[in-house]
Amino acid sequence: MHEPRKLYVKSFGCQMNVYDSNRMADTLAKEGYVETQDPADADLVILNTCHIREKAAEKVYSELGRLRKAKQEAGSDTVIAVAGCVAQAEGAEIIKRAPVVDLVVGPQSYHRLPEMLAQVKGGRRVVDTDFPAEDKFDHLPAPSAAATRKRGPTAFVTVQEGCDKFCTFCVVPYTRGAEVSRPVAKILGEARALVAQGVREITLIGQNVNAFHGEGPDGKTWGLGRLLEELAGIDRLERLRYTTSHPRDMDDGLIAAHRDLPQLMPYLHLPVQSGSDRILAAMNRRHGSALFFEIIDKLRAARPDIALSSDFIVGFPGETEADFQATLDMAERVGFASAYSFKYSIRPGTPAAEHGDQLSESVKSERLARLHQVLEASKTAFDRACLGRRFDILLEKPGRLPGQLIGRSPYLQSVVVTAPPAGIGEFVTVDITEVGPNSLAGRVVDAVEDRGRTSDRPLAAMEA
Ligand code: SAH
Ligand code: SF4
Ligand code: F3S
Repeated sequence: MHEPRKLYVKSFGCQMNVYDSNRMADTLAKEGYVETQDPADADLVILNTCHIREKAAEKVYSELGRLRKAKQEAGSDTVIAVAGCVAQAEGAEIIKRAPVVDLVVGPQSYHRLPEMLAQVKGGRRVVDTDFPAEDKFDHLPAPSAAATRKRGPTAFVTVQEGCDKFCTFCVVPYTRGAEVSRPVAKILGEARALVAQGVREITLIGQNVNAFHGEGPDGKTWGLGRLLEELAGIDRLERLRYTTSHPRDMDDGLIAAHRDLPQLMPYLHLPVQSGSDRILAAMNRRHGSALFFEIIDKLRAARPDIALSSDFIVGFPGETEADFQATLDMAERVGFASAYSFKYSIRPGTPAAEHGDQLSESVKSERLARLHQVLEASKTAFDRACLGRRFDILLEKPGRLPGQLIGRSPYLQSVVVTAPPAGIGEFVTVDITEVGPNSLAGRVVDAVEDRGRTSDRPLAAMEA
């Protein structure tokens, strides 16, 4: 018998790519590929790429340069594939620029990988960036039980793909195509299979996840709130999250789910991009700052312990100091528990790239540093306020030191505890004893009876 073929997949960009990478590995497992963590050892390397900012897209080419060198030095015949959003955006151009690439495959065609690889074996270069009529999810095999167990107690499930919002800075509507929701029955089936293999937390993902409008088992169109309610009924599925949302699609049904479903974690990533109404309009976000504040008020009324995170872009074309000040003010007012901020990056083919009033790199850098300072301060304040709180933690992986495990709090903070390795996949109740810049540390008080609920009882109340 010959050795199994080895596959190395590297994901860049968002959670959608992480999910897709797993599904590609599942598809290729059926073809006899096993995953390796070492590209030098692989018969097939797949780079699952991101096109969102120039830097992200350029990373692919430096990675390809390294792979070409390693391949030449070893004299190997490793097949190199580029998947994901750079593949979709640049297609055959990738092979022109990096002739080491054998295969370019866009996000809608992963189910065709086995045939494409057969063509590559036959000595052809293959480029497939179609948006095929068939649904790739119908053709992508489910993960094996062993693969799910290896991936740990948390999992992503794609419920929606693509985006129709066309924000003027963004490539996603072009790389991922129009918004499509999966049918509810398929999502439930996938979730149940994951839970049967020990998954305890599911994050529903989509480029615009709260625009979800899937066909329900009753033939009606279901929104995300209704889908979450149904998922919350699955026994042993203790935690639910969803990402990434658009403020425009935060409807009352979804906000009510935050009030009604204890499984839905009190933490929401809600990108706003800017605090300036003028810039929000120029970005085609189709809402102003008032709607954003209103949604936050409603969420906090529905779930008082909810914490928020967001994305911001600084230096959008035409952004004045006053516009930027509005963003700083918004960040101060909301007090985000965490946030990402980016310098505006010109993306070819998007409307904002044509804008005459592009800002200089130095203005963008200066604004990014100022915003970063405000966001860091509120993150630190949030983390510090967790000192002495009691959380349920889902233990996910070994820590850096022997005897340690790392889990996640309801707020997605990494929490380091002392616990035996068998605890992975289990919930424990933890008192937070230390707050560091990148993680918290805590003391295990108990295995969780009422598993996974956000038992955020203050210590004093416990002692009373
Ligand atoms: N669908 C989500 C986010 C998609 S991309 C939403 O609607 O918000 C993730 C983040 O990348 C965005 O929230 C935005 O902050 C950032 N981003 C997207 N395009 C960008 C660009 N051209 N320059 C800088 N940041 C960008
Ligand atoms: Fe991009 Fe806007 Fe769609 Fe988000 S909503 S993916 S930022 S176009
Ligand atoms: Fe990047 Fe594509 Fe995701 S551009 S952020 S990998 S949808």
